[in-house]
Amino acid sequence: MDRYSRFLAERTSRMKASEVRELLKLTEGKDVISFAGGLPDPSVFMLDEISEIAVDVIKNKGDKALQYAPTKGVTAFRDTLAKFLSAHNVKVRDYDDIIVTTGSQEAIYLASKIFINKGDLIVVEEPTYLAALNVFNELESRLEPVEIDEEGMKVDLLEDRIKSLSSDNVKVKLVYVNPTCQNPSGTTMSRDRRKHLIELASRYDFLIMEDDPYSYFTFEGEGVEPLKSLDSEGRVIYLGTFSKILAPGLRIGWALGPGELINVIELAKQNVDLHSSTLSQFIAMEAIRRGVVDATIERARGLYRVKRDFMLQELEGRLTWLATWTRPIGGLFVFLSLNYKVDTKKLLHKAVERGVAYVPGGSFFVRKDGSNTMRLNFSYPTLAQIKEGVRRLETVIKEELHVR
Ligand SMILES: Cc1ncc(COP(=O)(O)O)c(C=O)c1O
Repeated sequence: MDRYSRFLAERTSRMKASEVRELLKLTEGKDVISFAGGLPDPSVFMLDEISEIAVDVIKNKGDKALQYAPTKGVTAFRDTLAKFLSAHNVKVRDYDDIIVTTGSQEAIYLASKIFINKGDLIVVEEPTYLAALNVFNELESRLEPVEIDEEGMKVDLLEDRIKSLSSDNVKVKLVYVNPTCQNPSGTTMSRDRRKHLIELASRYDFLIMEDDPYSYFTFEGEGVEPLKSLDSEGRVIYLGTFSKILAPGLRIGWALGPGELINVIELAKQNVDLHSSTLSQFIAMEAIRRGVVDATIERARGLYRVKRDFMLQELEGRLTWLATWTRPIGGLFVFLSLNYKVDTKKLLHKAVERGVAYVPGGSFFVRKDGSNTMRLNFSYPTLAQIKEGVRRLETVIKEELHVR
């Protein structure tokens, strides 16, 4: 790369290849049980129904489905999506408040791009979603992490932080949260804290980016009300995705927010990809209309619940004295903290040799040292793999600590 470094823009140096990702790439095709990814179980994909839809859409609506589309997305799809969201607890005023994006990752990127100037203060949960952190870093924002516990972000702490920052004349511009079954911790923000966060946004005049891929997969309780539905002042940009409720390969997500802001995101999107795949939008639209999305959610929810229970049971059986972990009410991840000082990033090499992979937790943290933590995914591995993977994990940790 040195050969080309003089050609690269300054911002390129802030795009770092992750060592962990490089190491995990090496596990492909080997007998390594992966708790590392965040992939859906492919058995939840409704293959027959999706292929029927794809054939139908291409044969009967191909003139539109294979054509360019408006940047904000296919209008009929946005209308269908608005109805779908309303039926799933998300308040939508008008379909024109929605822009379709290429996965919610693009929505994070575009929304960040329109808001963040170099040095702007962005609050994130500690730990938080790594790929969002990478975007905020690329845009040279200043990050203020706020710790989470089993009820999500400690909003009281956020309030204290905002007060002390404002006495130094520093203003929070944006709070990024993944409040339901968070990636990586699995925790869900309580209703009181959600209300408090919305109050703070109003009192201290900031916006909230609510990233919500997982609220369809809550296994307990009555379902959680998104921040978006508590927002009466138009301060929440709500991001969602079809990746876990239909298929990630379609690359369809969305941002829902005040129309004026969505129109600015539209301008940013024009510079990136003109619009998201028309064909994928038609498939997702038909999948909603024919009940395939709701059926996928039902399938996945049932399966992931069984897998979560099984992973917790296996961890209980094998790692009780060595670690503590979260007990998520849903989602895809359990977050584990070792009771001893072990660097899980270094340990990953040995774990991979022993045939098990995870994501070391350190990179999800901005300020705190999370080097003794790891993220474990339970949606992708089979039950047999969960059993064997946790056994391998126990072996590696015990070897490292020289205990039996
Ligand atoms: C919290 C969070 N946000 C966004 C994404 C991006 O998902 P996609 O771009 O597939 O919609 C993910 C993916 O795992 C995620 O966990």
